[in-house]
Amino acid sequence: MAASRSASRALRASVKQLSASPAVTAQRRTLVSAVSNVCRVSATAPKAAAAGSWQQARGMKTIDFAGTKENVYEREDWPREKLIDYFKNDTLALIGYGSQGHGQGLNLRDNGLNVIVGVRKNGASWKEAQQDGWIPGTNLFDVDEAIERGTIVMNLLSDAAQSETWPAIKPKLTKGKTLYFSHGFSPVFKDLTNVDVPKDIDVILVAPKGSGRTVRSLFREGRGINSSVAVYQDVTGQALEKAVAMGVAVGSGYLYQTTFEKEVYSDLYGERGCLMGGIHGMFLAQYEVLRERGHSPSEAFNETVEEATQSLYPLIGANGMDYMYAACSTTARRGAIDWSKRFKDTLKPLFNELYTSVQDGTETKRALEYNSRPDYRQAFEKEMQEIRDLEIWRAGKAVRGLRPENQK
Ligand SMILES: NC(=O)c1ccc[n+]([C@@H]2O[C@H](COP(=O)([O-])OP(=O)(O)OC[C@H]3O[C@@H](n4cnc5c(N)ncnc54)[C@H](OP(=O)(O)O)[C@@H]3O)[C@@H](O)[C@H]2O)c1
Repeated sequence: MAASRSASRALRASVKQLSASPAVTAQRRTLVSAVSNVCRVSATAPKAAAAGSWQQARGMKTIDFAGTKENVYEREDWPREKLIDYFKNDTLALIGYGSQGHGQGLNLRDNGLNVIVGVRKNGASWKEAQQDGWIPGTNLFDVDEAIERGTIVMNLLSDAAQSETWPAIKPKLTKGKTLYFSHGFSPVFKDLTNVDVPKDIDVILVAPKGSGRTVRSLFREGRGINSSVAVYQDVTGQALEKAVAMGVAVGSGYLYQTTFEKEVYSDLYGERGCLMGGIHGMFLAQYEVLRERGHSPSEAFNETVEEATQSLYPLIGANGMDYMYAACSTTARRGAIDWSKRFKDTLKPLFNELYTSVQDGTETKRALEYNSRPDYRQAFEKEMQEIRDLEIWRAGKAVRGLRPENQK
């Protein structure tokens, strides 16, 4: 898109600043601009009065998102002392120490809460947990013992492992305990995962909208990640309050209320669509046509990926689509607005097909089958090698090498 180049150059300074901002890199699954604008609104909302006791509604903000009112909770209403008091009789048993386990577990520990980790003794996570200072027999146990000791059981195993281990875990989830997830996947698709939760316990969700590494890095910067919060089963009448408190304790800044079902549907749909699968498909289609029509690899890559990721997408993230259009040349703007309608009309049926495939469990079935295979790591690596070997990404490597920051 040559016409936007001058605009891109003019805006390079602000883009650089944005690219360096953790707020931009933090958001893998959410629409950053909408959220950050809303966060600014909520920051100005009147704060509930401080009190010795708090109620479920305290601290909740109702925010108008483009005409729809939604509930948002924020970290400011849960200072550390209040969290420590709230969970003073609890043992938080964090099961699994992968991406989320690491981030959420260290944040809980730094918040001064009584947290223990449960992982299998022969696995990689056991070693990693020890490296992070968890001590066997003190706050590091095998999965069974951790669940027995825990009052709030945080199931942070991979989604496939949650299904695989459920027959062993379920009997240990006795009355009075709380079951916590970071994805609605297992209980929502219980017909496929077999994760049928006991009827007499609270079941809650805090799903950080980003990688566990970001959950940790934002916390260390004194900030918080955006998360979804939901209740699947409320036996005590306190499930939502507990979920919000857990959300803040694991490192969330803002918590957006949803349901387990909506969380998992939107998450699976989004990552297959605009967040990853759809965008990769668009990149490939555009690049291939340029190459087939005689353009060089560098030109095809620059017009497809480099300008998008380095210049235009960060502007959309920071200021919205209208701002980005306004920052382009009139030529670019006219064509882009016209063609966006064509793309939308062409792609919408495909997005509907995708949503149905998520909703009817097809995507879950595929994920469970694939990720439960003993050789899934090798199969995944083979696919990654195939992607790495595509001309577009080999060209991309060379283009990235020319960026000033990559030149020694
Ligand atoms: N990653 C993200 O960006 C992200 C973001 C939001 C929500 N979530 C959700 O958070 C949850 C955890 O995801 P994650 O990405 O943190 O998981 P992950 O990195 O894949 O962690 C896997 C953990 O599960 C353990 N595990 C795997 N198979 C097991 C088995 N058969 N028995 C016992 N332990 C087993 C692993 O232990 P070993 O080392 O012993 O194999 C490891 O500790 C999921 O529900 C996911 O959807 C993830």
